[in-house]
Amino acid sequence: MVETTPITIREMDRGHVPQVLEIEQASYPAPWSESAFINEMTSGASVAIVALAGESVAGFAVGWTVADQLHIANIAVAACHRRRGVGTGMMVWLLKEAGRRGCISSSLEVRESNQAARSMYRQLGYRSVAVRKTYYSDPREDAIVMVKDLEE
Ligand SMILES: CC(C)(COP(=O)(O)OP(=O)(O)OC[C@H]1O[C@@H](n2cnc3c(N)ncnc32)[C@H](O)[C@@H]1OP(=O)(O)O)[C@@H](O)C(=O)NCCC(=O)NCCS
Repeated sequence: MVETTPITIREMDRGHVPQVLEIEQASYPAPWSESAFINEMTSGASVAIVALAGESVAGFAVGWTVADQLHIANIAVAACHRRRGVGTGMMVWLLKEAGRRGCISSSLEVRESNQAARSMYRQLGYRSVAVRKTYYSDPREDAIVMVKDLEE
């Protein structure tokens, strides 16, 4: 069934964590733990958000603002909500918040084979600038480093 519930984006709180973990575990071979997400909510340098479809968590994203840069640390969308702009919406939210915090650029790493994510980031204005050899394990793979100026 195609999901059509309107999406709203807000900051992540502890009540969202069980659903966030389900999406995380379904999306990554080496998922973040519950305590990792809880730590993100208490760190002033982190911006942790969820996309909600009613009461359900459709996706989440975590960014780190370090000096004048936003680093995208984690983003995933539940399979049933993919390809309807949820990932893009969360990225736009993070980029706006980073701008408010004085960031002037953004960076991220992405698996070389992750064409869906690479395509989303390209559409958002990120460009590939470097390769980190065998950056990932499970399975071992290179990372593509992508960057974007926020004043575009
Ligand atoms: C990557 C991810 C977050 C994208 O979320 P999403 O909500 O589906 O993305 P959007 O609907 O905003 O898509 C934006 C664009 O990304 C690209 N894209 C997204 N999914 C794609 C797919 N399966 N195949 C090809 N391109 C895709 C398209 O260019 C799309 O624009 P379009 O629909 O107008 O063609 C989601 O696929 C996901 O959770 N993947 C698993 C976790 C992951 O890989 N995270 C990124 C780690 S760096």
